[in-house]
Amino acid sequence: MTNTPHDTLHDTPHTDVAGEPVTVIGLGLMGRALAAALLDAGHPTTVWNRTPGKGDELVARGAVFAPSVADALRASPLVVVCLSDTAAVRDTLGPYRTELTGRSLVNLTSNTSDEARDLATWPGDHLDGAIMAVPEVIGRPEAFLLFSGARPAFEKHRDTLLRLGGATFFGEDPGLASLYDVALLGVMWGTLNAFLHGAALLGTAGVDAAAFAPFANQWVGSVTGFVSAYADQIDRGAYPADDAALETHLATMKYLVRESAAAGVDTDWPARLQALTERAIDAGYAGTGYASLVEVFRGKA
Ligand SMILES: NC(=O)c1ccc[n+]([C@@H]2O[C@H](COP(=O)([O-])OP(=O)(O)OC[C@H]3O[C@@H](n4cnc5c(N)ncnc54)[C@H](OP(=O)(O)O)[C@@H]3O)[C@@H](O)[C@H]2O)c1
Repeated sequence: MTNTPHDTLHDTPHTDVAGEPVTVIGLGLMGRALAAALLDAGHPTTVWNRTPGKGDELVARGAVFAPSVADALRASPLVVVCLSDTAAVRDTLGPYRTELTGRSLVNLTSNTSDEARDLATWPGDHLDGAIMAVPEVIGRPEAFLLFSGARPAFEKHRDTLLRLGGATFFGEDPGLASLYDVALLGVMWGTLNAFLHGAALLGTAGVDAAAFAPFANQWVGSVTGFVSAYADQIDRGAYPADDAALETHLATMKYLVRESAAAGVDTDWPARLQALTERAIDAGYAGTGYASLVEVFRGKA
């Protein structure tokens, strides 16, 4: 297995580079934040949205609302699109795709990797991106954005893209940023589900979520250490029980299931954890460490 080469940029843009014109298509919660960050950085910004009123505040701050999608595309060498989904991107830009010739399209709409690869066949240079941030942090360093696709487009527009937050380029496969996106969102939902289940469980004993939160955060910090160690094991294909064997995990998971059932808290989440671990043990991974569960997810157990 090889490491995926990627460039991570957290530096600020070169301030001596004149702001290039940018078009932002889609002025929902995220699109408005993207356009506002570009305006704040002094980029001539053209915007378009299906419902025009959502552009009023941006126009008051200096943006130009294009009268049509075609005009919006023609206005800038760099077009950022952020709509609800891929169907909306195809419906909105598809009829005008020839206007993208000679321009760079940065699609920040959430999508699947195959959808991203399909859009990359359109004219022009294509970058597909994922936004690991909420709208209010766009333009600040804590926002991080993932890109993949046409390297020349990333290099040409890097200073402009850095106006939106930190940027990582994952190489020329246009689908890779989308794959990282869903994998990272899975980490988020898994972590949050565990916290919410724990809050429900402790709530039955009169413990507020606010009292639980600092302990959950401290523990999540410890778990990040496990992630790095397990990544090494996964890449080596060897899962030594350096910390605890799967059977030890399984025995403790059963307490979580039993405590939940006894407290009247939904057992679906812990029961799934238990079932995954039992499948790994049944498949011959008894005595190995927790990282061997990756083989269950790979469909090998
Ligand atoms: N919000 C976040 O925290 C966040 C974080 C990371 C990624 N994202 C991603 O960013 C994208 C936009 O999210 P959002 O929060 O901005 O959503 P949103 O507030 O619901 O905005 C959706 C946008 O899509 C447009 N749209 C939907 N269907 C359309 C169609 N058929 N034709 C033309 N325009 C259409 C809407 O236009 P109208 O105004 O006319 O309805 C609006 O501009 C999504 O892919 C989302 O997953 C969002």
